[in-house]
Amino acid sequence: MTVQTAVLIETLVALGAEVRWCSCNIFSTQDHAAAAVVVGPHGTPEEPKGVPVYAWKGETLPEYWWATEKMLTWPGGEGPNMILDDGGDATLLVHKGVQYEKAGVVPDAEDDAPEEWALILETLRASLAADSGKWTKVAEGLRGVTEETTTGVLRLYQLAAAGELLFPAINVNDSVTKSKFDNRYGIRHSLVDGINRGTDVLIAGKVAVICGYGDVGKGSAESLRGQGARVVVTEIDPICALQAAMDGYEVRTLDEVVGKADIIITTTGNKDVVTADHMARMKHQTILGNVGHFDNELDIAGLTRYPGIRRVNIKPQVDEWVFPDGHTIIVLSEGRLLNLGNATGHPSFVMSSSFSNQVIAQVELFTKHQEYDREVYRLPKKLDEKVARIHLEALGGSLTKLTKEQAEYIDVDVEGPFKSEHYRY
Ligand code: NAI
Repeated sequence: MTVQTAVLIETLVALGAEVRWCSCNIFSTQDHAAAAVVVGPHGTPEEPKGVPVYAWKGETLPEYWWATEKMLTWPGGEGPNMILDDGGDATLLVHKGVQYEKAGVVPDAEDDAPEEWALILETLRASLAADSGKWTKVAEGLRGVTEETTTGVLRLYQLAAAGELLFPAINVNDSVTKSKFDNRYGIRHSLVDGINRGTDVLIAGKVAVICGYGDVGKGSAESLRGQGARVVVTEIDPICALQAAMDGYEVRTLDEVVGKADIIITTTGNKDVVTADHMARMKHQTILGNVGHFDNELDIAGLTRYPGIRRVNIKPQVDEWVFPDGHTIIVLSEGRLLNLGNATGHPSFVMSSSFSNQVIAQVELFTKHQEYDREVYRLPKKLDEKVARIHLEALGGSLTKLTKEQAEYIDVDVEGPFKSEHYRY
């Protein structure tokens, strides 16, 4: 819930949607944006005429799930007919709700589920007690979901592979004009913004470790190199690791460099990348943060339980953790998306590119849902190119036009699409 998503909401409303909104992260709400959306352009604080928003900066996790359920609970019993998701928590809540409605009972815990999923189960237990068919009704009314980010998309493909996806989905993340722009150039802006606002430390000359060299990792590494940091990359994928090496970064394991890093940032979308043991071995006042979607990249729970550890809150979203030997580490946004928690996320221009894809995907699934199965789809390349064309124009770039002969020679249409599906950009 940021100023950028406020404009996305206005766009959806202008297209005729009735919208309810919540945040996908407990720290990323910009309260002024939330307030403006609630009041609306024609309302007043006393008489709001905008969109219901269930989000504020600094929610607790129980409040977060409460807000997600509220968002999905339409007045009058009508459910939503579309979800626009970021990270997949709304989609997850509906799927879990249906699963346990069918089972007739919500278990106390799920095997192998993250600790905080206990809160989903609690939310569901309460909602199922009030209305035992609620989530089945919600799922039946849904024409589809459009998913914003890598982590949410992963969950959708897992559901589809298991034959459990309850409605069609469009993977917005893998539009080229989303992941190759927002994930990369967006983070190139907002990562250093978050570190600066959180710590104001001089980045030049420092050793910065970026865990993961996917789209977000590439932008993160560039971001810190741009400030003069000596950047080291960790990767599990030899292709991305080789890319990092050829882009001029040192490639090491975290174990090799953990004791000499000044800044460590995770960008993997994976769990347990930085353990409490790593944290204990960090240098005095190492800055530790995450920009992957969920906070489980850093073992904050393990840090909290570390024998003799003490937490000193420096300011909102900045904590210094003091180890028994006296050395400390500085953790940003409790391990949650620091570019949103400590700063204001990606700037509008790059989000415009992402959200153009979101809006196109919403319109597509809403108007043509009968043409889609319970699978995960991507938008056609032609629309991806359209989003790029519009944004290039806005930047004042001039695009070269193919001649008919050139187009025939490379076997494409003069108007595009210009690349095959397997082209990687
Ligand atoms: P990606 O899949 O392109 O990159 C992740 C990289 O991490 C991969 O190259 C993978 O091989 C590597 N990796 C996985 N486990 C690792 C480990 N244990 N150690 C080192 N490297 C490891 O994904 P992408 O698009 O870069 O997204 C990463 C995360 O960032 C996702 O959770 C995504 O949802 C999130 N995201 C966050 C944004 C933000 O504003 N903070 C914006 C866009 C995405």
